[in-house]
Amino acid sequence: MKKTSEFSGFYKLSPKERVQFVKEFAGLADEEVEILQSTGSLNLELADRMIENVVGVMPIPLGIAVNFLINGRNYLIPMAIEEPSVVAAASYAAKMARSRGGFFTSSTEPIMIGQIQAVNMRDPHGAKMAILAAKNEILRKANEQDPMLVSVGGGAKDLEVKVIQTNTGPMVITELHVDCRDAMGANAVNTMAEAVAPMIERITQGKVYMRIISNLAVKRLVRAWTVVAKEEVGGEDVVNGIVDAYNFAAADPFRAATHNKGVLNGVIGVVIATGNDHRAVEAGAHAYAARSGIYGPLTVWEKNKDGDLVGSTELPMAVGIIGGATKVFPVAKVALKILGVKTANELGEIMAAVGLAQNLGALRALSQEGIQRGHMSLHARNVAITAGATGHLIDLIVEKMVEERKVRLDRAKKLIEEYKKRGKL
Ligand code: MEV
Repeated sequence: MKKTSEFSGFYKLSPKERVQFVKEFAGLADEEVEILQSTGSLNLELADRMIENVVGVMPIPLGIAVNFLINGRNYLIPMAIEEPSVVAAASYAAKMARSRGGFFTSSTEPIMIGQIQAVNMRDPHGAKMAILAAKNEILRKANEQDPMLVSVGGGAKDLEVKVIQTNTGPMVITELHVDCRDAMGANAVNTMAEAVAPMIERITQGKVYMRIISNLAVKRLVRAWTVVAKEEVGGEDVVNGIVDAYNFAAADPFRAATHNKGVLNGVIGVVIATGNDHRAVEAGAHAYAARSGIYGPLTVWEKNKDGDLVGSTELPMAVGIIGGATKVFPVAKVALKILGVKTANELGEIMAAVGLAQNLGALRALSQEGIQRGHMSLHARNVAITAGATGHLIDLIVEKMVEERKVRLDRAKKLIEEYKKRGKL
């Protein structure tokens, strides 16, 4: 049987039923299912080895976004997030996108930038020339720090030097370009930057202070795009609404910040589920959104000649599938298995597609009924279950409470009684 991520009504299943579907889809072992469903899967001993002064752990719900078709392949998307409606919106948007083949993606090589700051030079431009002349020697020194990375085709590949003017005078900034392959790369890059710093001091006769990775990862970009048939989104008017929502964000940083928050709802859900560094991805995304000097949206929505909706996104994505916390968090390891990704680039591209889907879900709802209705349904579901509803009755009660805009425990209890009396069980 061909594997598909398409699933209507996934939300109606219980967590145990959902995990069975995921288990079959991803070929999970019983122990992996147990890790997913055990709320204490990060034990204190492990946590204590990850950071300092540990006193506990902080669990976050892990959901599965369904319906994703990316480059012709079906994916189930694990998302760790505390906010309701996000997983549902991503799944819904992914379903809309399927009719024209889902999402398509590409990416650059996984190159991160390491910066080395040199100050106190009388001749900063001369120093720049001297650094560039010693390029091979500097790259060799950098690569000696990580033979493992070099052996898999990564390592320091190039360097650039710039002179910048600052309040305390000119500075010479050397930028190492490090191909991090399947690692996020902060450790590798920072080690290299620190290792070459004495060489830079010797060459420039200046003083080096900062030696650190840049989170504005412009050389490690991921892209995703999709065409959504106008009938799938709800017709021409909805397409126009979404294009206008994008244009609003493109013209107003106040809206762009919220637009991008929606994109990052999707991206960061997957970043956290896979144990990656969400601060790095967020810092990079926002800096990239402001690269023109004016903060703008991370996605673009247009209408093609057939009146269909065309969405695209490009953003830096410093994520890995080896090293860091990705291989420490038991749940992150299972999340990576569910995704079935083979490279960090593939993971980053999926994150871009999920960000685009999330943004589509939000813009479609915002340009139509607003997002409160969706939030309300989820809330109503929780209230109905708390009131004692089970099975088919949950849906009936939710529908009624949302329709009446009365989502309250007392109302849910009353409705349960009424439905029971009418034999609607
Ligand atoms: C809420 O978490 C995200 C949204 O505000 C995004 C948006 O406004 O586009 C709904």
